[in-house]
Amino acid sequence: MSTRCFSADVEGVTAHLVEVEVRIEDAAPRFVIVGLPDAAVRESRDRVRMAIDASGFDFPREVMVLVNLAPASRRKVGPVYDLPIALGVLSAAGFLAADRLSSHVAIGELALDGRVRPVRGALAVASRLANGDHRPLLVPVGNAREAALCRGTRVVPVRSLAEAVGHLSGQSPLPAESFDPSSLLAAADPEQEDLADVHGQHLARRAIEIAAAGGHHLLLVGPPGAGKTMLARRIAGILPPLTPEEALEATLVHSVAGELPARGIVATRPFRAPHHSISMAGLIGGGPAGRPGEASLAHQGVLFLDELPEFDRRTVDALRQPLEEGRVRISRVRYALHLPSRFELVAAMNPCRCGMFGVPDGECRCTPIQVAAYRSRVSGPLLDRIDIRVEVGRVRYRDLHGAREESSADVRRRVLAAREAQAARYPCTTWSTNAAIPGKRLAEHCPLDSAGREALRTAMDRFGLTARGHDRVLRVARTIADLSGRETVTGDSVAEALLYRGQPGGSPG
Ligand SMILES: Nc1ncnc2c1ncn2[C@@H]1O[C@H](COP(=O)(O)OP(=O)(O)OP(=O)(O)O)[C@@H](O)[C@H]1O
Ligand SMILES: [Mg+2]
Ligand SMILES: [Zn+2]
Repeated sequence: MSTRCFSADVEGVTAHLVEVEVRIEDAAPRFVIVGLPDAAVRESRDRVRMAIDASGFDFPREVMVLVNLAPASRRKVGPVYDLPIALGVLSAAGFLAADRLSSHVAIGELALDGRVRPVRGALAVASRLANGDHRPLLVPVGNAREAALCRGTRVVPVRSLAEAVGHLSGQSPLPAESFDPSSLLAAADPEQEDLADVHGQHLARRAIEIAAAGGHHLLLVGPPGAGKTMLARRIAGILPPLTPEEALEATLVHSVAGELPARGIVATRPFRAPHHSISMAGLIGGGPAGRPGEASLAHQGVLFLDELPEFDRRTVDALRQPLEEGRVRISRVRYALHLPSRFELVAAMNPCRCGMFGVPDGECRCTPIQVAAYRSRVSGPLLDRIDIRVEVGRVRYRDLHGAREESSADVRRRVLAAREAQAARYPCTTWSTNAAIPGKRLAEHCPLDSAGREALRTAMDRFGLTARGHDRVLRVARTIADLSGRETVTGDSVAEALLYRGQPGGSPG
């Protein structure tokens, strides 16, 4: 007796269908899985056997059970095939009609007592089925919400092997998941830290508002304890809420990485803050299993590199590709991956190793050579892509005990208005924020008044602003004008944008 059912494996964020063929033969009792299974798939035999017995069926004994996972050319990873293998065995043993089984796709890990455990990549599988297959998908209950984000696939959550059998046999059909993420997406994350807690630092607060409004990358430079880390952690909370499409993309990455939050989907902008000891694979992605790195987990959110000079330079340099293309491409012997990776980069650093260089009333113990060496550890090509660089000074006593500061909700309202102005200006272009205006379209989208032109001319002719610096200042000035609701980029907007041009440590650039 032989039956087929379907499952899927996930490579990067893309799922491929896998056919699970089960055959029972009159031969010496054995349970064999072929088709390039990894160790976790081979262990599936014990889980499947126990789960079948624990669910009130009898695992077929005195016969050979052969499972073939096709196509055999692709490696099969992880425990995701437990559920389809168990269903296939039950069908081959006569407990379940073969045609009911082959009209479904199933994924899920089995516990020894027959419960179905969540797996990685359920949303990727649902998306694959929505594109052309349209068979219903049986998923573990723990994956139901993420899979249901994909509108085109009928997602049936199952709690146990017995429930899956009841559904497929028609004896106790289960309802499809109907999860509407809109309420989760509109609400701000209650756990997010608020800008009201950051006292003083008005220049830096303004800089993160501009960065959020225009999608500009940001560098915060200042002495220890000034509040750089505090400020950076509050940026995700002033960005616009995720749209359903953005939430789907972010959830997809977290799902294949096995990092979904407890509520089952990514509903607020990701904030990723990897430690500076992170490896290349950890930051960019890859590794033996081809998993997304921090740069992809930050997709649609913020990637925060605290203590930037402490990161390995080669590792940080590898961010150039995602910064330019919005995705990561990795080629290895075993796989080639494309992972989405569009994030807002926020970096923080001290001005020198001791942290006090250029700080009023501070005493720097570094030699000029040490200061230069410390700064040269920051990748130049990375710095080139950071539009806004701001100094965060020491907080003064009267600021720390001053009036309550504006909350994240207030700042976010202005950010949203500025984003709406950008959406109206760039209705169907490949870019959507001021930070991404291509160089040759700058003049068209950033009309300067005479004072604005004069300010830029002075900066270039008298203060050494480079041509590349000119373009960056113009993009930032565009955002400042959007924040004040002006279509023309005026002299004040340009003058303010020039404030955010400092090199790390404060020398002009
Ligand atoms: N502007 C501020 N308003 C309120 N509290 C502050 C402010 N700045 C610093 N603090 C307090 O000081 C602590 C340290 O701040 P934070 O870690 O952000 O400093 P930092 O600039 O990142 O320092 P380092 O360079 O050592 O990493 C905060 O947890 C907070 O309690
Ligand atoms: Mg810090
Ligand atoms: Zn120093």
